[in-house]
Amino acid sequence: MIDKINELLRQVEEFRPRAAAEIEEFRIRMLGKKGELTALMEEFKGVAPELKRELGQRLNGLKSETLARINALREELQNTAGERAAADDDLTRPGTAEELGSRHPISLVRNRIVEVFSRLGYTVAEGPEIEDDRHVFTKLNFPPEHPARDMQDTFFIERRGEEPAPDDILLRTHTSSIQVRTMERQRPPIRVICPGRVFRNEAISYRAHCIFHQIEGLYIDEGVSFADMKQSLLYFAKEIFGEQARIRMRPSYFPFTEPSAEVDVSCNLCGGKGCAVCKGTGWLEIMGCGMVDPNVLQASGIDPEKYSGFAFGMGIERVAMLLYGVNDLRLYFENDVRFLHQFRSAL
Ligand code: PHE
Repeated sequence: MIDKINELLRQVEEFRPRAAAEIEEFRIRMLGKKGELTALMEEFKGVAPELKRELGQRLNGLKSETLARINALREELQNTAGERAAADDDLTRPGTAEELGSRHPISLVRNRIVEVFSRLGYTVAEGPEIEDDRHVFTKLNFPPEHPARDMQDTFFIERRGEEPAPDDILLRTHTSSIQVRTMERQRPPIRVICPGRVFRNEAISYRAHCIFHQIEGLYIDEGVSFADMKQSLLYFAKEIFGEQARIRMRPSYFPFTEPSAEVDVSCNLCGGKGCAVCKGTGWLEIMGCGMVDPNVLQASGIDPEKYSGFAFGMGIERVAMLLYGVNDLRLYFENDVRFLHQFRSAL
């Protein structure tokens, strides 16, 4: 039996496999149920008691030697396989390029507008999209039966009754509600710019959508005049559309401003000569504005005898369409990457 053990030990030491399968074969031949070692263990049972001690030790030695050798060989084989694979890699090949995302054009335009007004001292204010009637209409001087409430088709979430009530819950139809919230908690001087998503119940087409983005501004202080407003909006137009841009104001109506105006900017495509985009007029409508109505100041606890201010509001999609020459509003909502990839900017 000693000879057999020594012979097997020699085999273990001399075993030189070329593949993992050979190691497994060897393991089964040595340690498997019908393997050499199992047979020896069986034989060991019949060994004379005085030989048991020595033979037992040798047998155990053989077993641990076999296991250690098998594990070492497996590891060695794995490492050389890894090295061979690494040697196959061509390190001079160009790497796989990472896809870079781009900002959504609406965000780009919003950031640009915010940046222009922040240079004039405006800070950004935000507010909830789910609002109450009080902040969207009542405190902005829309009486319950005022026809101007029909100007905006509202998505209602909760109505108190047939008649409009300040506690009705709705999706904001303009970001003027943020201006109300600012006036409630802040005393003049106030200079805020309010970007955000707004909702109106309109059929979706190339020129209208039920969701869009607005950016509105509010400036309240002692002695703020219509001339201040005009100068600020002219500065905005030149910064966004270029030094050659001009603006004009046409009388208009909003419940929350008096007097009110519609602002047009000279068409940046034809330079004011008249083209398809400006429908031959040379002018493009971009925003509404006006001097804040004294009732609106009063409703939020600001003394209209002491303070005055102006407000303005525009659609971000509208500005984006004019800037980028995009003529279908729906493109901004479909998130087609072929469209989005065309807008790259550092902002
Ligand atoms: N809130 C108006 C709208 O949604 C825009 C506006 C804002 C007009 C401020 C005048 C002053 O159409």
